[in-house]
Amino acid sequence: MITEQLTTELNRFSRTLTQEISNPAAKAMLYGVGLSEDDMQKPQIGIASTGYEGNTCNMHLNGLSVYVKQGIQASGLVGLIFNTIGVSDGMTNGNDGMRYSLPSRDLIADSIESVVAAQWYDGVVTVVGCDKNLPGAVMAMARLDRPSIMVYGGTIRSGHYKGQKLDIVSAFEALGKKYAGNISDEDYEGVIKNSIPGAGACGGMYTANTMASSIEAMGLSLPFSSSYPATHAGKQEECKKIGAAMRLLLERNITPADIITRKSLENALTVVMALGGSTNAVLHFLAIARAAGITLTLDEIQAISDKVPFLADLKPSGKYYMEDMLEIGGVPAVMKYLYQNGMLHGDCLTVTGKTVAENLEEAPDLNFDTQHIVRPLSNPIKPTGHIQILRGNLAPTGSVAKITGKEGLHFDGTAKVCEHESEVIDALQKGEILPGQVVVIRNAGPKGGPGMSEMLKPTSAIMGAGLGDKVALITDGRFSGGTHGFVVGHVTPEAFDGGPIALVHNGDRITIDATTRELTLHISDEEMAQRKSEWQQPAPPFTKGVLGKYIRNVKSASEGCVTDEA
Ligand code: FES
Repeated sequence: MITEQLTTELNRFSRTLTQEISNPAAKAMLYGVGLSEDDMQKPQIGIASTGYEGNTCNMHLNGLSVYVKQGIQASGLVGLIFNTIGVSDGMTNGNDGMRYSLPSRDLIADSIESVVAAQWYDGVVTVVGCDKNLPGAVMAMARLDRPSIMVYGGTIRSGHYKGQKLDIVSAFEALGKKYAGNISDEDYEGVIKNSIPGAGACGGMYTANTMASSIEAMGLSLPFSSSYPATHAGKQEECKKIGAAMRLLLERNITPADIITRKSLENALTVVMALGGSTNAVLHFLAIARAAGITLTLDEIQAISDKVPFLADLKPSGKYYMEDMLEIGGVPAVMKYLYQNGMLHGDCLTVTGKTVAENLEEAPDLNFDTQHIVRPLSNPIKPTGHIQILRGNLAPTGSVAKITGKEGLHFDGTAKVCEHESEVIDALQKGEILPGQVVVIRNAGPKGGPGMSEMLKPTSAIMGAGLGDKVALITDGRFSGGTHGFVVGHVTPEAFDGGPIALVHNGDRITIDATTRELTLHISDEEMAQRKSEWQQPAPPFTKGVLGKYIRNVKSASEGCVTDEA
């Protein structure tokens, strides 16, 4: 009975290979990989793992994929694991490897799309762990529009050294302390050796945890997927439950088009704002929306930031780690609180087959007497979101600032221009970064970098040198979710395209105003035009290979750096 139902209803795609006589070699090969005659009647689910050994965010994902497969098989489906790539943001930050990080998002999307479409899988489960893995996977799911679930690999546990809790950012900030002579060689080594205790994604509300929380809020992963740490028993249990959830999606033919909607994108961005998430979420949700055929603009993201308070005292600007969230009810408890206060759409469908509101009926409540991680709406860290879209003559098509309020809302200073992030480190070592300066890092955009590198190393070094509240930093590159301080990234148009950031001179006055949301270079229009007339576009830094292709295809950061649109 089930077999007959599956044959006629659930193996919508794989039946091309298993049922149609015109593909004998495909069927022969499926027998070759171990499928039985009975299996030929079942739907096939591709399980895409970004597992690989060389990065703590990814080292355990192939193991989790095996649990996912067990759950899939136990639900009467065929699970077939395949792999795609990942690039470690933590390991490439501050070096040229970072050029490949953002391009890896689109390679992940392209490769999952390619395998699932070519192999005729009826659904896809993605098992992902590091920053670009998550949006890449969701972009593929949106493009394919077949029943899909994302499993997050989970956050890392914190490291410990001399009574201090540590994470990846501790390692970066130790370098700034070393340059400033604020840490002994022994303690420097102690921090480096103990920051990262094992499997899991970087432990604050950095990009991976931001995207995991918001994708869960969008409905594409099971409740608590973003809250179970990588080594928590709940993570394995979640993987085993995927089979039943996927079967339900197949039976009801619920696809990403039913789940990724304007309302669910608003839910995702609301959670980003409430939790104080990474600025990278802007880039990635612009791209996810485009993959889903939904128009989302920077101004719409600003509108969400205008009405959602910043509530969570999580790193990088706050005190707590993602691992602490589970104890207070996890992301579902935060969502429930936001929903009860009219800040989330409850009627959005999710991969449980239920709506957000129905899922939240089972979620725990936040207890504001006993927990101090998430503040009540009556006493937020900041009354509006920390992500602000700034425009002005220095960023005519927009830029993205991370303003938690702790740094102030206004910065007026003189430009210190660096053509590469390494120049910031050199200047710090020489004592040339001075209070009152706006450090301008340019040629770091999607084309000019290429790859729109994250500026975690310079911002951490500035913090470690004790200049975090005395200098600002603007760039056409990006920031890691780990960055804090007075920072503006995604400045567009980028320097490579002749944007005004290319025309800044040392000593120019720059104002960053988060209240009026303006980024202003204080030179006359005539001076700006004169400088532009003298500007010459540099040669592309790469013409061949992945980065050459990326430079030719990538759109502006204000359009999500997508690569698959003409
Ligand atoms: Fe993977 Fe930070 S390096 S989440």
